[in-house]
Amino acid sequence: MSMIYRPRRLRATGGIRNMVRETVLMPANLVYPLFVVPGTNVKKEISSLPGNFHLSSDKAVELARETYDLGIPAVLVFGLPEYKDERGSSAWDMSSPVQQAITAIKQAVPELVIISDVCLCQYASHGHCGLLHGDKVDNDSTLPLLAQVALSHAKAGADMVAPADMMDGRVAAIRALLDDSGYSDVSIMSYAAKYASAYYGPFREAADSAPQFGDRRSYQMDPANSREALREVALDIEEGADIVMVKPALAYLDIVRQVKDEFLLPVAAYNVSGEYAMVKAAAAQGWIDEPRMVIETLTSMKRAGADIIITYHALDAVKWL
Ligand code: PBG
Ligand code: ZN
Repeated sequence: MSMIYRPRRLRATGGIRNMVRETVLMPANLVYPLFVVPGTNVKKEISSLPGNFHLSSDKAVELARETYDLGIPAVLVFGLPEYKDERGSSAWDMSSPVQQAITAIKQAVPELVIISDVCLCQYASHGHCGLLHGDKVDNDSTLPLLAQVALSHAKAGADMVAPADMMDGRVAAIRALLDDSGYSDVSIMSYAAKYASAYYGPFREAADSAPQFGDRRSYQMDPANSREALREVALDIEEGADIVMVKPALAYLDIVRQVKDEFLLPVAAYNVSGEYAMVKAAAAQGWIDEPRMVIETLTSMKRAGADIIITYHALDAVKWL
């Protein structure tokens, strides 16, 4: 039978499929999150994120080196502090685990890009991302504290800071303090469109950062909104963001695509803890082919427009590529 168009012709062999593949996921697209804790010689698997670990600085250095050796260019460092208080002051304490780990990793693996998460929730006794005034998370009084956190990370040796708090104006506040302090070369990857999501559950257990009352809906975005995401991204770019992030990733690929089409900055997507946990749980049951599902999922994020994908699968994924 004669047929002019037969799309299957270009799917016939592996060689042809390789030739016409539009999206190729590379190790260089990935960022691996690290969770650092106080102490030495600690490497303890995180129960809510199987295959990921709570690491003391020395062990974080080892895993950072392994990450770099696999061809992954960057880590995103989260800290669990020694102490918590109302203001979250361990967040800018140079002797806290994050600052210590950043310095140690930078010294041991200088080529690895160190991105640091800037927020107060892991460090504040109430678990909210900003300062409390009564029961309200106060925007403007939080900004100098976030800037102080970012500066402490830059001093420790971070290449890039990633504000995750969703306060208005924090990118500008961070940029100004970094510049005034001699760190104009430290970049800002802003969590620009960060949604109030149920997908953060396993992370909050891993980072001990769940809010002690209420939720984050007065500062993180409503999952129903997309125009608002573009507005958030536009503001962060005006304030000086170098990279803009959409978070979570999988349920928000339409947002990733819109941000990519609308703006000229690199776009990051955060494949968050709940997305990871769903895959790991189904894989543990034997219900899915984990390597195939992971590569398919991460490829979908890149296809949607993500230049950078932050993922707990990173170490596995590069072995499966
Ligand atoms: C802290 C922060 C969160 C995540 C990254 N930074 C959680 C939250 O906002 O409660 C989520 C990461 C993940 O789920 O993998 N603000
Ligand atoms: Zn937070």
